Amino acid sequence: MPNSRIPVISLDGPTASGKGTVAHRVAERLGFHYLDSGALYRLTALSALRLRTPLNDEHALARLAEGLNCSFSEEEVFLAGENVTQAIRAEEVGNTASRIATLPTVRQGLVALQLRFRAPPGLVADGRDMGTVVFPHAQLKVFLTASVETRAERRYKQLIGKGFSANMDDLLKDLTERDARDANRSVAPLKPADGAYMLDTSDMTADEAVEQVLGWYASARKNG
Ligand code: C5P
Repeated sequence: MPNSRIPVISLDGPTASGKGTVAHRVAERLGFHYLDSGALYRLTALSALRLRTPLNDEHALARLAEGLNCSFSEEEVFLAGENVTQAIRAEEVGNTASRIATLPTVRQGLVALQLRFRAPPGLVADGRDMGTVVFPHAQLKVFLTASVETRAERRYKQLIGKGFSANMDDLLKDLTERDARDANRSVAPLKPADGAYMLDTSDMTADEAVEQVLGWYASARKNG
């Protein structure tokens, strides 16, 4: 199958909008591959923190991004063979990821790696710029949102569930800052792609959101 015929569903949206869970389940239901592009930014951030790469050294950071030696299996993420599934979820790593994600060369450095995830029978790509930049011809584009309070609550439960400590006020402040940084950066800002369906998940269960995305995909296939 030529690469351009391999279906892609892009799911973009802010932190803790439910993208990860929804994208994962949609991929499972369709038997598609799954790209967690945020994990690539987090892996670059973790490498930079460990190597003490200055966060203003754009070229060194871009080299780290291009040369990421990472692999994914089921729900686990590996960096140079080490299981870093938990380590990349730490708040410090998320914040650093969001800072280095404003750098054009870092974003460019990760493009080739992201395109490699497009493989038969299809891909569900989760991130901030999947439908706008990386897969602009995706068969279905969805933009997920949820109120900042709902997202802070979800993030709180996620962190506690993973054994990290968390504080609601800090999380709210952090999410608001991260949203502003993602939405206002000059390169690949977070915004709905042209033709994206908007899905507000504030009052939805993950299963309801999954059914909605699958329904849209079924219609897109019928019409496309
Ligand atoms: O989605 P997640 O919270 O894991 O992403 C970590 C950070 O990586 C985000 O705050 C965002 O700044 C950045 N990111 C991005 N583009 C993507 C995915 C993530 O800029 N496609």
